[in-house]
Amino acid sequence: MLNKIIDLINEDLTKVENSLKSVGEVQDNHLSELLRYALGIGGKRIRPALTLLTGKLYHYDFDCLLPMAVAVELLHTATLVHDDVIDKSAIRRGQPTINDIWGEDKAVLVGDYLFARAAEVCANTGNLRVVRLFSQTLATISTGELNQAFDAFNPDQAPKHYFDRITKKTASLFVLATESGAILSQAPERAIEILREYGHSLGIAFQIVDDILDFTGTDEELGKPAGSDLAQGTLTLPAIMFMYHYPEDNQIKRFFQNRGELERKRRVIELIHNSPIIQECYDIAANYCARACQKLRLLPDDASRQVLIDLADYIVRRRK
Ligand code: IPE
Ligand code: IPE
Ligand code: MG
Ligand code: MG
Repeated sequence: MLNKIIDLINEDLTKVENSLKSVGEVQDNHLSELLRYALGIGGKRIRPALTLLTGKLYHYDFDCLLPMAVAVELLHTATLVHDDVIDKSAIRRGQPTINDIWGEDKAVLVGDYLFARAAEVCANTGNLRVVRLFSQTLATISTGELNQAFDAFNPDQAPKHYFDRITKKTASLFVLATESGAILSQAPERAIEILREYGHSLGIAFQIVDDILDFTGTDEELGKPAGSDLAQGTLTLPAIMFMYHYPEDNQIKRFFQNRGELERKRRVIELIHNSPIIQECYDIAANYCARACQKLRLLPDDASRQVLIDLADYIVRRRK
């Protein structure tokens, strides 16, 4: 489904893929094994696709967009490697995680290595503005992940907390992807702003859907452990809405107070899965997608503009 939507840039995405692989070609045997593993199991590659697509709206300069797209995906991969350490997660993209195979110490270090290489590749754009954005984004993502760690198992979180956290940990990287594509293709400032806003709303919708799928998907579908957010003490939108719907009988609070009650957690997940809350969350995600696309019509009527609109639609419908 995704491949068909982004057909317009599939050829260039293959070059991104090859360039990602080349980051793993290092002399050190251990490191090269780890990198080949981390970069070889592809994810959906949505973020580099966004950089290329936004880059197509103005002066498509692939020599500059290629390192940027690669840097964005390297940054994403590094955050996932660290996220799996933080969550003690054993599966990612349908395969055992680096922490599961090599241990947490190696995973932390390979994550660091990937961050460093991402910055180096980003610098190959020769554009100081995107390099600065890149660094700021990494700082923002770390803040979001830190907020999540500090908020773990706290049942008293308002929706605002949640939206603030996902803006930082997820939407910021979508913004980097779209904004840098616009900057590197010399888009006018107003267009850069519109594509920033698009990336932001799309990123929020993307994380809401990820959080829904954590309640409704299976390990096999997702390629990562389903039902893990509550287990980690992470209060996502479906859980926050569940607490609003049932203020008297707060099952989530009880589970957070007694984390050994796995049967209670299983029941809450099932209750949420079979409740109207899922549709309500989908409606909120769809609203963000609609908002994302709202101002795109002010941009050039290029084929890539339609793909950006179709991508927003895909993000709500996806099952993984
Ligand atoms: C996973 O992102 C992390 C989130 C922001 C939810 P993706 O779902 O894009 O992960 P991959 O790259 O396809 O594995
Ligand atoms: C995104 O959130 C994590 C990062 C910003 C690294 P999740 O914690 O929901 O991602 P998954 O579900 O593990 O992919
Ligand atoms: Mg996680
Ligand atoms: Mg998740």
